[in-house]
Order: sequence, then C-alpha cells, then structure tokens
Amino acid sequence: MGFTYKNSRLHCDDVDLQVVADEYGTPAYVYSEKILKRNADVLKSCFIDRGFKVSYAMKANSNPKILALFKSYGMGVDIVSAGEYQMAKHVGFQGSDINFAGVGKTAGELKLALEDDIDHFNVESLFELEHLEAQAAIMGVQANVLLRLNPDIDPQTHPHISTGLKKNKFGMSAEMVTHLLTHASDYPHVNFEGLHCHIGSQILNPQPFLDLIDYLSKYTDELSGMGVDLTHLDLGGGFGVNYENPFEDILETTPYLETFAESAHKKLGNFQLHIQPGRVLVANSAVLLSRVLGVKENGDHYFVVVDGATTDLIRPALYNAYHEITSYREQDNFTVGDVVGPVCESSDALAKQRELPQYESGDLLTVASAGAYASSMGSTYNMRPRSPEVLIKSDGSIDLIKRRQTFAEMISLY
Ligand code: LLP
Repeated sequence: MGFTYKNSRLHCDDVDLQVVADEYGTPAYVYSEKILKRNADVLKSCFIDRGFKVSYAMKANSNPKILALFKSYGMGVDIVSAGEYQMAKHVGFQGSDINFAGVGKTAGELKLALEDDIDHFNVESLFELEHLEAQAAIMGVQANVLLRLNPDIDPQTHPHISTGLKKNKFGMSAEMVTHLLTHASDYPHVNFEGLHCHIGSQILNPQPFLDLIDYLSKYTDELSGMGVDLTHLDLGGGFGVNYENPFEDILETTPYLETFAESAHKKLGNFQLHIQPGRVLVANSAVLLSRVLGVKENGDHYFVVVDGATTDLIRPALYNAYHEITSYREQDNFTVGDVVGPVCESSDALAKQRELPQYESGDLLTVASAGAYASSMGSTYNMRPRSPEVLIKSDGSIDLIKRRQTFAEMISLY
C-alpha cells in the first residue's frame, strides 16, 4: 500500500507515477486513497469507537474530496475561518458537525456560525467572549462555548508550532478561565459547555499529552469544587508523524494514539471528549511529484533544480522541516546536494544537504509527507499557478481532485 517501487519505478499503490506526470504535468500532489482510509480507520477505532468526537482540522488539507471521505467515517470538522466554514458546508457538513476555533474571529464570522447553530465555538479571549455574547443577544440565540485554556505545558516541538505555553498567543490562563466560568451568569447567551486545549503540533513524545490529561483531570475537579460542572473537553490535535520515514503506517509513525485514547477515556471518560487532528490523518498520504529542470554546481555545492517549489511546500523554508526526497527511478550513485525550486528566494529549497542520485533534466522525483500543510499553505508567489491534486483511488482509478490553476484565473483577480 502507498508509495513503493515496482520494477524499479516509484508507484502510488498500483499506479506508475510517470503516468500521473504525463497526464497532469508537474508539480502535482499525488494522494493515496488507501492511506487516507487506513488513517481514518485507525482514528475511528482508537477514538470514535471510544465515544470521542473527532473533528478533522481542515487547515491541514481542505480538499473537498478528502473532507467528504473523513465525513463518511463520522468525523466533523474543526474550522478557523469563514472560508473553511464555506468549504465545510460545500461538502455537506451540518452545523452540528462544526466547531469553530481560532484566536481571532470577525463579527461576520461569529454571525455566520450562529445562524447555522454550529456545535460550538472554541473561545480564546475575553474580547471574543464579549463579542459572541453581544452577537448572540442581538440574534436571540444561545452560543455553545468551550473556553480555550492555555495549560502552560511544553509540547517539545518546533517553537513556531507550539501553542500551549504562556508565551504563545493562544488560549487563556487557568485564572482567567476560572474567573469566567464562575461568572457565567454575566453571559446569558453563552452555554459554557467545557474546555478546549491544543498544546501544539507535530508532537512526537506522548508525555505532554499524558500531562495534559492529568492537568485537566485535576483542574476540572477543582472547578467542580467551586460548583462549576462542565460536560465537554476538547484535547485538540497535534499528533506528530515521522517525516524521516514517511511511508510508514500510521501506527508506526504515531505509535501512542491507542495509549493516549485509552488514558483519556479512563481519566476523563465522564466528559464528552473531542479531538481535532489534522496532520496525522493526511501527512503520509501524499507526495509532491516534481520534475528535475537541471543540475548545477556552484563551487563545491551541488544543486538539483526542480519545478516544485516553496509555493507548493513551504514547510522546509518556514520551519526548516525535513521532507524525504525519493527518486522516481530506483537508483544509486549518491552525491550530497540541495533540491531547490525556481522561486527567486534563497530559502526556496525543498531539501538541503541530502544524499542524492545523479539526476538529469527531465527525471522525476517526489517530496514526501506532502499531504498536510502543503497544498493548504500553497501560494502563487512569482505568479506560479497552484498545483493540481491527484487521488489514486483504492480501485486503481485516477481522480483529478483539484485541477491546476490557469493563468487566466490568476489574472482575472486584478
Ligand atoms: N486544533 C487547533 C486549535 C490547531 O491550531 C491545530 C493546528 C490543530 C487542531 C491541528 O493540529 P495537527 O493535528 O495538524 O498538528 N503549519 C504547521 C502546523 C500548524 C498547526 C496549526 N494548528 C506545519 O506545517 O507544521
């Protein structure tokens, strides 16, 4: 299953990636439906079957075909903008399948979500709570709220994707949350249902999650002692994957899912539990298929210039993230070098100082783990059209699930 060599040529399931490049051009994202289903199956058995509500964090990848697939497993969606809301509705999610997170929501966004009676808002600040109360009062409705608590737990991940520390902009301190919950009557149009915590992303060590469970268990006991009884707890997302070994199964790449689910269920099972995973569901399901434009040497530095770029995958430039490079043709003769794109920025590199085979112009290669935060963080910098997305379906057929943007579409915005 997934991305493997057959006859020394890289395939996605049974489809030769050369066929995809010939048909749809490069750069292109290529997804394996089998991997997406495998990931969803595992989250279902670990979490949904234990009574958790799983809301897919669609910022990781908002392709509607992928959203529809997760919907068929009984997942809802975690959204952070009106755009994500519109996409969720386009796919057919009901208001009751949607929770609205994010550190700043506009008045228009609050109104839109209240009109649809979404499941709940994850509220991150006093100002947001006041805006929501005011908007709900005008509309004469009640808003269901989980307050986002910043538990000051170190997720031990890249500082740019750590969110659960006091120095991060997300959530509110326990003191503030306690104050609001004990003054709930000041907000008559808000139902305070519970708490939300999301401590960071790409978390590989289970300990921060286990600490979070203990923290919430103690904190909710304290709240009970003050007469505040909550019903919902959202433990966020953040499950990390193995970028060094990108074609592993989800249970190898994120081995602690089962332990985490069981521990949360045991210690916090008296609450309706929620999680909001993004990356773990999609990261390993796709590669960015690119063509080598040529190779060059500057002094003793060897560069492979490809047609894919940071506009397709910004993670290496933004977080110094590692993404595995795999040749389409199985080959050896390695030289150390960088894989770079054509964008006019020194940071436009997809991989640095890697053992690379002797590439020639026209060769294909893939950049792995391109299912999460790749297409969804893409841009048109240098007037590069957004790249297409191709799904290799479980039955072996090929589905173009997003076409390449045209130049006319880009120009028409101006
Ligand atoms: N819930 C909330 C409130 C979030 O902020 C996020 C991600 C998630 C859930 C999903 O987290 P996940 O399971 O995907 O780790 N662009 C970065 C990741 C940013 C994550 C932002 N928030 C990257 O490429 O690594």
